[in-house]
Parts: sequence; C-alpha cells; structure tokens
Amino acid sequence: MKRRYGKRNGQRSAAKQRQGERSEPFSGSVRDLNSQGHGVVARDDGRVFFVPGVWPGEEGVFEVTGTKGRIGFAQALKLTHPSPDRIDPPCPHHGFSGEYCGGCPWQFMSYPAQLQAKATRVTSALAGLCQDELIAPIWGSPQALGYRNRAQFKSDGKQLGYMAAGSRNIVDITVCPILNERNQQTLADLRQRLPEPAWRPARQRAWSTLHIDDDVTADTITPEQRRPFRQGNTEQNQRMIQWLEAQLAALNAPPAAVELFAGSGNFTQVMAKYCSSVLAVDSFAPAIEELAARELRGVTATCADLARRDGVSQLDAQCENATLLVLDPPRDGFAEMGALLSRAVELNTALYISCDLATYRRDAQILLASGFALESVQPVDLFPQTPHVELLSVLRR
Ligand SMILES: C[S@@+](CC[C@H](N)C(=O)[O-])C[C@H]1O[C@@H](n2cnc3c(N)ncnc32)[C@H](O)[C@@H]1O
Repeated sequence: MKRRYGKRNGQRSAAKQRQGERSEPFSGSVRDLNSQGHGVVARDDGRVFFVPGVWPGEEGVFEVTGTKGRIGFAQALKLTHPSPDRIDPPCPHHGFSGEYCGGCPWQFMSYPAQLQAKATRVTSALAGLCQDELIAPIWGSPQALGYRNRAQFKSDGKQLGYMAAGSRNIVDITVCPILNERNQQTLADLRQRLPEPAWRPARQRAWSTLHIDDDVTADTITPEQRRPFRQGNTEQNQRMIQWLEAQLAALNAPPAAVELFAGSGNFTQVMAKYCSSVLAVDSFAPAIEELAARELRGVTATCADLARRDGVSQLDAQCENATLLVLDPPRDGFAEMGALLSRAVELNTALYISCDLATYRRDAQILLASGFALESVQPVDLFPQTPHVELLSVLRR
C-alpha cells in the first residue's frame, strides 16, 4: 500500500483533537463508504471515523487525525487485509494530505470495484422509495481516464492546479489523467505561462479560478470567467440524451413541458422535438442567453432563481398547464419542489436527473407524497475515480 498521506493530514488543522480524546492507534475494519467516498471505520468504543484511501472489507491499523463534533477522522497506518481490487493510482498527484490533489479519491481502486460501490450506494440511498428491481445496472463510463471535458484550475500567479486534499492550499498540477486530450493540452499551455501575474488573486482571496472546457484555449481564458454548465463526460452525456429521447418518444402525445435547471439547452434541444411547448428555466443569464439564441421550436427560455420560493412563484403561468417536468438540478437539488407542485397541478410525468443522492431522496419523497410513483432509475457514472454518481429517473402520477 502506497501511503501518500504525508506527515500532516489536512484534517488535523481543520478539526482539532478534543481534550481527553483517545488518540492511540486502533485496529478496525472498513464497513462502508461515506458520501465523500471515504471509509467508515468503527473503533471498539463505538466511535466512528472517516478514513480516506480505504475500501469496505479492508482491515488495518488507524491513527486518529482529528475530530469535528461527533465525527472522527483517521488515517490508515497499515492495512492488514488490503482489498484485492487495489491498483497503483495512475496520477502522481493522487493522495490524501495537503501536498496531494483532492480531486479523485478513488484512484487506488479498480474501475469495476468503483462501479460496484456506486451501485451499492444508489440502492441504499433509494431504500424505501422503490423496489431494488426498478434500479437498472449502472452505466459505466467508456473511459475511466481521459474523459473530463471541463475543469476549474486555481492559480496564485505562481502555481496552477487544484485544491489540496483536506485543505484549501493549491497543489501545483503538472498532469491530470482524467482530463480529455483537449483539456490536457490547455493545462500544458497554461503551465507554459507560469509565473503569470495576471492570474494573481484579488485581495483577500487565496487564488484565481480559471474555468476551462473544450471550447476555450489557453489564449482565450479570462480568470474568474464562469462558463455555462456542461455535463463533464461527453460520451456519457450522449447516453443521457438518448435516455431522455427514449422517454419522450414513448409518451402518448406531445406534452407541454417545464424544464428546470436547463443550462444552455443540452436537454432542451431534444425536448423541443417531442414537446408542444417547453418553459426552460435557469439562473445563469449567459446560459439562458445562449439557449434563447438557438431559437428552438416552442421553447421559452427564462432566467429565475429556483432556490427561492419567489423564483418559482414568478415563473410564467405557462408552467401551470405543463404535464411533463424535466429537472436536472445541481447538488443542492430542488428544495422548492412543493412550491412548483402546488402551481403545476397538471404534471403527470417527472424525469428527474440528479447528481446527488441525498437531495434526490428528499425531492423524490415530495413527489411520492403528492401521488407520483418511481417507475425506473438508471444510475450513470459520469465521473470515474470519484464517488459521484448520476441518476436518470422516471416518476409518474
Ligand atoms: C446540473 S446543471 C444542468 C444543466 C443542463 N441541464 C445541462 O445538462 O447542461 C445545473 C444547472 O442549474 C443551474 N442552477 C444552479 N443553481 C440554480 C438556481 N438556484 N436556480 C436556477 N438554476 C440554477 C446552473 O446554472 C446549471 O445550468
């Protein structure tokens, strides 16, 4: 086992050890993974610790690195029973302390084992919402590396990279194997410019952010200029679009639709083909402008903050006649689901695309309480080497 922990675990500074807290190394086994993809290990006194870089079923000796409220943090000193699915991490920056990148916490596991863990997380997150048989086998990514079509680099003018594991330091990144070729080239080109005074952060900030994707080059990037959202894995996005198209094609008649968190129209372009009308909503004005400029048939693009109740209540009255809801929120989910349902009383089908299991569960419960039932769930892996998982789900009244 390569430790890649370093002398100081970042959690030490963030989470102080309490007075009187037991700190001697302890033996234990990893019983689960938390939502950040870290192992969950219980000590013999029942105290639970989160441990990066370990996998369910592994046993070892652990050292406490800190506590924060009821949560304990630890690192593995030695694994007495390592998983047979361990691999050498493909990235030189992978690790779990302030000198390593915090981006891909699962690089030490084989890709099939990662997929299995994601499928297990989905099943347990949806327990009680639907029968397990409604959850389809996860769609793995065709590429476990070299897939990522966007990134946010941090720079202080001297270094360029990502945020460190467990701290808010920048880790200088020379290569990033999860980026696609185009973005790897942009990273290499940007690094040629270091040191770059134009990337120094504004006062009181630790860094500037450089948003990159397939449509920018090192010469066209402006620090802090956010780009419209795009799904981070191009091939998996195509599958998501095909899934959506199949759902729409199976409807009896072209529905009036409301699409929330539409971005610049990744899904709207398909909806325009099958729906009589689409009210497409997003809070990011440049994305809505891009969508409006496409002049898709029957689509009204509108800017609103859907995290606010008044954002929902001020939506065009068009939403009141909608029978189809398509939504693809950020990780916060759509906490105002209840407000929408009390306005859009004609809704009979919801296609909910989610990137967060906890908020999905919360929002789906609101739909179920108002007469919807979960009909199918398709998990999709857009982000290999990380614990993230997407859900494509159909709910019907
Ligand atoms: C997961 S992305 C989905 C975008 C689009 N469906 C796509 O596939 O490209 C989430 C979108 O939610 C938007 N968003 C984030 N917070 C929002 C809010 N409070 N109100 C409305 N839209 C929001 C973002 O601008 C982003 O476009």
